[in-house]
Amino acid sequence: MIIAVDGPTASGKGTIAKALAAHLGLPHLDTGLLYRAVGRQVQLGGGDPNDPVAALAACEFADTLLDDDALRSEEAGGFASRVSVHPAVRRALYERQRAFALQPGGAVLDGRDIGTVIAPDADVKLFVTASVQERARRRWLEMTGREIAIPLAEIEQDIVRRDARDINRADAPLRAAPDALVIDTTSFGREQAIEAVIEAVRTRLGTA
Ligand code: DC
Repeated sequence: MIIAVDGPTASGKGTIAKALAAHLGLPHLDTGLLYRAVGRQVQLGGGDPNDPVAALAACEFADTLLDDDALRSEEAGGFASRVSVHPAVRRALYERQRAFALQPGGAVLDGRDIGTVIAPDADVKLFVTASVQERARRRWLEMTGREIAIPLAEIEQDIVRRDARDINRADAPLRAAPDALVIDTTSFGREQAIEAVIEAVRTRLGTA
């Protein structure tokens, strides 16, 4: 069984995908981490993430980079968003994601194009979203919890910029698959969002 969870940055899709995978006993892949690793690799080499040649070369990153805490920063998210516009980068990362989706027993993958490109054959497709203000507030709380001081307005601007880049790129833009279930978590707390999604998946799979 393949479950695709897509959505914009800080929508809660990662938390939801992880909880769903634990609930169903399936492995989970955060595909954003792959793009973050490519972005970080470019940054470490002093390259320009807008340069498709440098970005493609960075797809050969060492797997140990996936454990690097620096991948979780806002800066790494910005680099990831820039390298992800290059079709050659998306092609280079395709097989790894596709193989993860097709493993025996199935998997949960979260990202931007899982339901549309990586696993258009997914059994359940979810598109998790929330208002820009709420996403900024959540990200701000997370950063404050990690003792990183950053103004809320700056985070909000960054989210708007990242949304625009992810939605407007030509190759595999962020969008809900036509058969995706759209879940707006703006007024949900963490547990409420997880419960709502588990319920929605049960209904979709006819296992209610
Ligand atoms: O989910 P995230 O914030 O970790 O993703 C970082 C960037 O990676 C995001 O801005 C766009 C890109 N990305 C993508 O293009 N396709 C995916 N499936 C996952 C992430």
